Amino acid sequence: MCGIIGYIGYRDVVPVLIQGLEQLEYRGYDSAGIACLDSRKGNLFLAKEKGKLAALKEKIGDFNIDSHIGVGHTRWATHGEPSRENAHPHTDFSGQIALVHNGIVENYATLKKTLQKKKVRFTSQTDTEVGVQVIGRFYKKKTSLFQAVKQAIPQLRGFFAFVLFSKDDPETIIAYKRSNPLVIGLGQGENFVASDVTALLSYTRRVIYLEDEDIAVLTRNKVTVYSLKRHSWVSRPVTTVNWNVAQAQKQGFPHFMLKEMYEQPEVLRNILSKRIDRQGEVYFDTITKAFRKRLKKIERVFMISCGTAYHAGLVGGTAIQQYARVPYQAQVSSEFRYTNPMVGPEDLVVLVTQSGETADTLAALREAKSKGALVLAIVNVVGSTIAREADSVIYTHAGPEIGVASTKAYVAQLATLLLLAFYMGRLRRKLSRDAHRTLIREFKKIPDQAAKILKEHKRFESCAKKHYTRRNFLFLGRGYNFPTALEGALKLKEISYAHAHGYAAGEMKHGPIALIDHEQPVICIAPDSLTYEKMISNIQEICARDGIVIAIGTEGRKDLEKMADDFFCIPKTSEVFSPILTVIPLQFFSYQMAVLNGRDVDQPRNLAKSVTVE
Ligand code: AGP
Repeated sequence: MCGIIGYIGYRDVVPVLIQGLEQLEYRGYDSAGIACLDSRKGNLFLAKEKGKLAALKEKIGDFNIDSHIGVGHTRWATHGEPSRENAHPHTDFSGQIALVHNGIVENYATLKKTLQKKKVRFTSQTDTEVGVQVIGRFYKKKTSLFQAVKQAIPQLRGFFAFVLFSKDDPETIIAYKRSNPLVIGLGQGENFVASDVTALLSYTRRVIYLEDEDIAVLTRNKVTVYSLKRHSWVSRPVTTVNWNVAQAQKQGFPHFMLKEMYEQPEVLRNILSKRIDRQGEVYFDTITKAFRKRLKKIERVFMISCGTAYHAGLVGGTAIQQYARVPYQAQVSSEFRYTNPMVGPEDLVVLVTQSGETADTLAALREAKSKGALVLAIVNVVGSTIAREADSVIYTHAGPEIGVASTKAYVAQLATLLLLAFYMGRLRRKLSRDAHRTLIREFKKIPDQAAKILKEHKRFESCAKKHYTRRNFLFLGRGYNFPTALEGALKLKEISYAHAHGYAAGEMKHGPIALIDHEQPVICIAPDSLTYEKMISNIQEICARDGIVIAIGTEGRKDLEKMADDFFCIPKTSEVFSPILTVIPLQFFSYQMAVLNGRDVDQPRNLAKSVTVE
């Protein structure tokens, strides 16, 4: 959480920082700030405001400042309330160093006390200010900024990334990474550093992903990297990213979320064309022979992730169990890591993550690796920490997802995990060539079927209009669509702030049925499936108690349509593919509910896209 950026070069730094922060704002929007060095006066120019970037932009206005070096920040508050005082950048006691920070300095309280005893004054409640003050103490002793950072870092516990510069040294930006992401953008006569690549795309696609304990020294013409782990200067590979600026812009849509929902058919088409070879077999370019050998023999699968990605993991685990006949267990990352999990070399741990930076999922990965499990990451953001640390990675190729509510990344995760299940099924000889061929044939229809559902958007809108003032929703599903119920409920609460609960439909009579009355909307996800009739019985039970039924089913299901107050249909498909389709009406419903309630769809309150703190 929090987005940080730094620039050194020939351009006016303020627009570069502001534009970069616009791209990073999804990481947090409690406050925003920039610091740069005024070339004419040699002063540090500092501007920060509480609230969204718009407030900072308004404050800066047309302020003309001649500066070519600076740092910027967009905050998701951890230590200290969202306020101007707590907004970054923070400076040290001498006012020389300006620093932006993403993450947490865990021992900040102790360090602060020690510094206060030495008469260092603090102006904020943040852990960040402690970080910059510690660096400032070392800098005072006439070392270079790089040396000061190098000496200060071992005193700071926690997981964080810093970007900083000093008034004294207008030719250098320093960046440090421990666990939280930092990517360097390489230009001609200019260099950039940011929390993620979307902030750099307008300027360069040549990047270096920093590793943990790297200190990068950026000048206009050079980037050098020192590894605190290796105690030496190191060379890090330069990667060319294949995302482009347009993908990270709204392109005429009112919200990123809406744009990303409409991109889903294309994302699915792209995945299928990348992952299915001419013979109709699934293939993953990143899976090596050695990995495949182990994959063939694994005895259990653990699907570990957070939020929406966890729901994708549930679908993926079910498919792996069905087609590859390996038992699976799904757990949220924050629980997995603290339960001393019994995983070992015979187990596959699959981490699903859009950002590839989620702190709990990263910790789960490290836990699994330390126990010798085979670790596979299903990741969207190329070069992210989880992608780099896993034994193997399969990219989901959804393109940049900016809306905090995950949509296209989710369907990309679903599609990728289903392909993985079929791949494992073939590898382990549990899925015949013919059955596989039939599945792939059907899978190839899914992108067009998704596009067909998107055309129904007016109907989702009118349904949301009927219900947008309601505060409680129940989502029910079974089998492959129990995770859809969880996902539908999560989507609705995160962007509309209505309370929503996802439940396994079979569990309804064990408690939630008490909620049903004439005012309770129940969203029933009931496409054709093994448990369709059971679902129908559950819906009957809701109708008998006067509940409001909003049903999602397969086209032609007149029985379901009759029972429901609102009915949305998906084209005919096998149960295994249905979660890719059934989620689309739910995304639309949530989107409309949020819009009608006047919510900030792309930046819902209290949330951040990439959760890099525990
Ligand atoms: C999705 O709409 C959420 N914003 C959230 O649950 C998200 O899926 C979760 O934080 C996991 O993120 P990741 O995929 O980047 O690991």
